[in-house]
Amino acid sequence: MTTYHELDPVEAKISAQDVSVFYGDKQALDSVSIDIATEYVTAFIGPSGCGKSTFLRTLNRMNDTIASARVEGAIKLDGEDIYRSGMDVVQLRARVGMVFQKPNPFPKSIYENVAYGPRIHGLASGKTELDGIVERSLRRAGLWEEVKDRLADSGTALSGGQQQRLCIARAIAVDPEVILMDEPCSALDPIATAKIEELISELKGRYAIVIVTHSMQQAARVSQRTAFFHLGKMVEYGKTSDIFTNPREERTKDYITGRYG
Ligand SMILES: Nc1ncnc2c1ncn2[C@@H]1O[C@H](COP(=O)(O)OP(=O)(O)O)[C@@H](O)[C@H]1O
Ligand SMILES: [Mg+2]
Repeated sequence: MTTYHELDPVEAKISAQDVSVFYGDKQALDSVSIDIATEYVTAFIGPSGCGKSTFLRTLNRMNDTIASARVEGAIKLDGEDIYRSGMDVVQLRARVGMVFQKPNPFPKSIYENVAYGPRIHGLASGKTELDGIVERSLRRAGLWEEVKDRLADSGTALSGGQQQRLCIARAIAVDPEVILMDEPCSALDPIATAKIEELISELKGRYAIVIVTHSMQQAARVSQRTAFFHLGKMVEYGKTSDIFTNPREERTKDYITGRYG
């Protein structure tokens, strides 16, 4: 059973129903159901190993890349089952982009990191249009001013925080509907972290954003919805303020008061 706090009726961008995940015969996620809306930043919190990354990966079928992983249940994106046969997974991962814990720019120029996706998805009809997409994506990711004079430099030469914003620009460049972020700041210093958090707030409403974080302060700062996971189950879901100030489940209370990590 999951406790759901009262929520405003908004349309679900992503709707997960009874999602379970197994690695071989070991169950990692047990019957998770949640609606995620574009209007809000949604945070997934919970102790290490509780299944946050596993669940996040089901939302754009990244678990497909793990041979032992098996997904049960249904996940709909705008009402369409993303696990249906014939689903174009490459297209899906452009619509539902992902940013990882460790920034992972391609070993290519800053420009190419951002231009690559739009090019393979045929989003630009020529160089001028592609240049426009690259600039707009870098601006939206809050990186343009820092890199506009060095677009030919390698993406991997940037600082960690800049690399993470480059990865966000890369996700944005293919015009996604959802951006999944798995502990995007855990490899960054406090200043770079603050920049990413600011960026998330700026992107809010344009994309449905889901962020996994082990920092409750971060969840409280950037999200409006929070889901608490424990031992493969989603225990409680609601407004971030309710989860942190008025949790209904004992397990949530224990976690947010730091009784276990
Ligand atoms: N590729 C994998 N193969 C086997 N087990 C995995 C794999 N990834 C995660 N798990 C297991 O699934 C459970 C949930 O892990 P994970 O989703 O990474 O949790 P979290 O992100 O909350 O720390 C853990 O028990 C973990 O060991
Ligand atoms: Mg994880």
